[in-house]
Amino acid sequence: MTAATPAASVAQQALELFRTNRFSAPSAPSPGVWAAPGRVNVIGEHTDYNEGFAAPMAIDRYTAVAAAPRSDGLLRLVSAAGAFRESVAEVPLRALSPGTPPGWVSYPAGVAWALLDVGVLDGGSFGGADLAFASTVPVGAGLSSSAAIECATGLALAGLAGADLPPALLARLAQQAENAYVGVPCGPLDQLCAAFGVAGCVLFIDTRSGEVTPYPFDLPAAGLTLLVIDTKVHHDLGASGYPDRRAACERAARQLGVPALRDLTVAELGRAERELDERTARRVRHVVTENERVLEFVSLLAAGDLSGTRLRAVGRLLTASHVSLRDDFEVSSPELDSVVDAALRGGAYGARMTGGGFGGSAIALTAQDRTAAVAAAVLSALPAADIFPAVPATSAHRVC
Ligand code: GLA
Repeated sequence: MTAATPAASVAQQALELFRTNRFSAPSAPSPGVWAAPGRVNVIGEHTDYNEGFAAPMAIDRYTAVAAAPRSDGLLRLVSAAGAFRESVAEVPLRALSPGTPPGWVSYPAGVAWALLDVGVLDGGSFGGADLAFASTVPVGAGLSSSAAIECATGLALAGLAGADLPPALLARLAQQAENAYVGVPCGPLDQLCAAFGVAGCVLFIDTRSGEVTPYPFDLPAAGLTLLVIDTKVHHDLGASGYPDRRAACERAARQLGVPALRDLTVAELGRAERELDERTARRVRHVVTENERVLEFVSLLAAGDLSGTRLRAVGRLLTASHVSLRDDFEVSSPELDSVVDAALRGGAYGARMTGGGFGGSAIALTAQDRTAAVAAAVLSALPAADIFPAVPATSAHRVC
């Protein structure tokens, strides 16, 4: 294995952690390593649980897990990231039960539970595993560190058991782990992106059919940079805000008599405004117009190079998405608004918050030769921000 790729270098860290914790008996087979990426959602926010459209890309930041089988019915887990740094957790497979244990361990534990539940892992023969995690996906930054840990774990456990786990099933079980075990009512966006990511492409996802179509988004070839701006701020409101927004959308769909907000068109927004209270109508308007923006975005990508008027139109879509999330869906934050405004003042083509919101990260699409000016403008607005470029990267895979 070379450490030349982003996944390979984090895989090396996971292997070192595995060894320093003496996870395997000297006679045991050497561990395998699996990795899964974080993501930025380029456009299509809060549409996934409304059966709508989204266009995320996996990024060149990975969570890797070095894993080897056990035969005593235990999961042993250690992580090089986050608050639980390098303390070993032990979870007996027979004790797997939604909500336990709390903290980061519930993500991989939930994946084991989901795989056992559907029989991808055979409860009679699967004897547990040693799992050592390392990651370059920032935690709490809205870049899907949870889907990365879930998808890396899913592939690793299936790999150890010699079981087949195609990407669609990996994504479904990872989402199931997060919904039913961890207790976060997320949609399918993040897990689909980690499972299907393609280097150099954004993924057009129809969350109703589950169909994922890659569209070339070769930023370097177009002379472009996508900056990720981690505000380093996460507001507590996120914990209740996300389920609240989801519930409001589902209620609105019922009131309007449609299976999901995906089924409303822009032409029907007038009816939504007449039949719903003012705030709910704004929530609906965000979802309906955001779906339209995703469709426009991918048709611009399909139309040819990202340059000239097409590029400026893409930039305008990103910024319009931010305004809609800020004003209609109300999931932005003062820090996100301020870095988006600063990036635009610095000359970005477009900028928006990415992910669930209430803090976390924004993205800015900029010409390569404007990158330094955009970053400087952002830092003068929010000196604590962490800014890095991201390129579309490959999906969850076995590294070695
Ligand atoms: C979080 C959730 C996703 C999606 C986004 C908002 O990332 O995990 O399912 O709903 O928020 O687009």
